[in-house]
Amino acid sequence: MTALWWQTGVIYQIYPRSFQDTNGDGMGDLKGIEQRLDYLASLGIDAIWISPIYPSPMVDFGYDVADYCGVDARFGTLADFDDLLAQAHARGIRVLLDFVPNHTSDRHPWFVESRSSRGDPKRDWYIWRDPAPDGGPPNNWISDFSGSAWEWDEATGQYYYHAFLKEQADLNWRNPAVRAAMYDAMRFWLDRGVDGFRIDVLWHMVKAADFPDNPPNPDHQPAMGDMHRVLQLHSTDQPEVHCIAADMRAIADSYGTKGLGERVLIGEIYLTIDRLMQYYGGERAEVHLPFNFQLIDAPWQARSLAELIARYEAALPPSGWPNWVLGNHDRPRVGAKRGQAQARVAAMLLLTLRGTPTLYYGDELGLSDVAIPAAQVQDPRELREPGLALGRDPVRTPMPWDGSENAGFTTAKPWLPLNKDWATRNVAQMAEEPHSILTLYRRLLAARRTRLALSIGDFALLDAEGDVLAYERRHGTERLIVALNLGGQSRRLQLPDWASHCRPLLSTLAGAAPARDGDLRLRADEGVILTTE
Ligand code: GLC
Ligand code: CA
Repeated sequence: MTALWWQTGVIYQIYPRSFQDTNGDGMGDLKGIEQRLDYLASLGIDAIWISPIYPSPMVDFGYDVADYCGVDARFGTLADFDDLLAQAHARGIRVLLDFVPNHTSDRHPWFVESRSSRGDPKRDWYIWRDPAPDGGPPNNWISDFSGSAWEWDEATGQYYYHAFLKEQADLNWRNPAVRAAMYDAMRFWLDRGVDGFRIDVLWHMVKAADFPDNPPNPDHQPAMGDMHRVLQLHSTDQPEVHCIAADMRAIADSYGTKGLGERVLIGEIYLTIDRLMQYYGGERAEVHLPFNFQLIDAPWQARSLAELIARYEAALPPSGWPNWVLGNHDRPRVGAKRGQAQARVAAMLLLTLRGTPTLYYGDELGLSDVAIPAAQVQDPRELREPGLALGRDPVRTPMPWDGSENAGFTTAKPWLPLNKDWATRNVAQMAEEPHSILTLYRRLLAARRTRLALSIGDFALLDAEGDVLAYERRHGTERLIVALNLGGQSRRLQLPDWASHCRPLLSTLAGAAPARDGDLRLRADEGVILTTE
């Protein structure tokens, strides 16, 4: 196969508020990202995805967009964005923006108009419904951030729908005028040269036309949060969403391969594997990469991970390219979930599976979740449902760059506290350490860049037992074995005959022993890549 950049490449997610501040307001900005491009280039990633930078009241930290064609002053200006894009491209780094099509801020001029009167031409741009006969909300749909997903509007005597906060009103994508306006917003950025989008909550965009009640969730536990009281059967993943995803793909494809190659679309979709696969498209192609979040929640157990990987691979449509993710700005960090020793093994897994990996900023430092004192909580999710560990501030803390004041992130007070160990867990320090997780990430990324077997090679699980997860990657004459010990005790792996004389190419630990007569010993928490060359 001829590999495309988004198939061999590695994507790196930047939470812009937390990456690098340059104007001393304690919040990261576009100039800050530009300043750190050399770091990103040296790390060896191919593209950055930047969480929303548009003008926003920031009630949901930018996922409440008030203007799709601008830059929030806190992040800088459109000119800053153009500079960043040019500088990234000069280093061969593509830039993906976060497109948030499901909902707008309640301050977006469209919504302000829409709520002004029932007869307003933009009324039907959002989802307005009469009350139920008892005067309550039109149905039982629950916001992902808890409580009814319907907000009463006194002035016009109707409810509007919001899948998230009441300050995030859902657009009515059944209205062709909405589609046209939003497609124009995509073109606005593509015309400027962006390399694609991560599409926010793609599976939410269309709701059942007659708004039936969602069925109760028989497995609901209060600890899951309010949203899981019902199954989102009618409020998400409706068949009509696929036409929209295909339209978006056609727009991206219409930009061809000028510049650094194809424009790519990545869909944020939390669904079961079978449902997820639908978003690759059928007759009409849809998103290039429906985000595969399977590794985030899976039990960290070799046998079940092997089964999960096999199931995902088997479910892919013939032309569907796989992808893998360990964390993002909404979910606990891999360092917190799996611990420091296994975070290294997880890095090797992420960067040696078949498919496009997405890294979350700071994971290359082994950052863990940072405990946020109650008085400093900012995330609306935590504020609305405190104490359930659903809050996202702990995974959005500033990037620690060096040992100077505020870890080189800002000259002011950072908007969220730094990791407590920032004096040693920072880029400058860990770059010098031959066995830091940062050095491991660099070596894994370099190995992946020079060996196509690791990115686009065929994948086959190997027989393994207990805590060992092992697989083969093969491309042309190149054959590699990845063997991961997910446990805290040393383990043996019997290698297949063809690999009995292979040697370690890279280990997650210092030094690694070669296999003897096909018998590979893995130390506790060790992962190795073996080569036959
Ligand atoms: C997505 C984003 C999340 C946001 C939500 C609403 O899930 O990743 O951060 O709160 O959409 O836009
Ligand atoms: Ca700033």
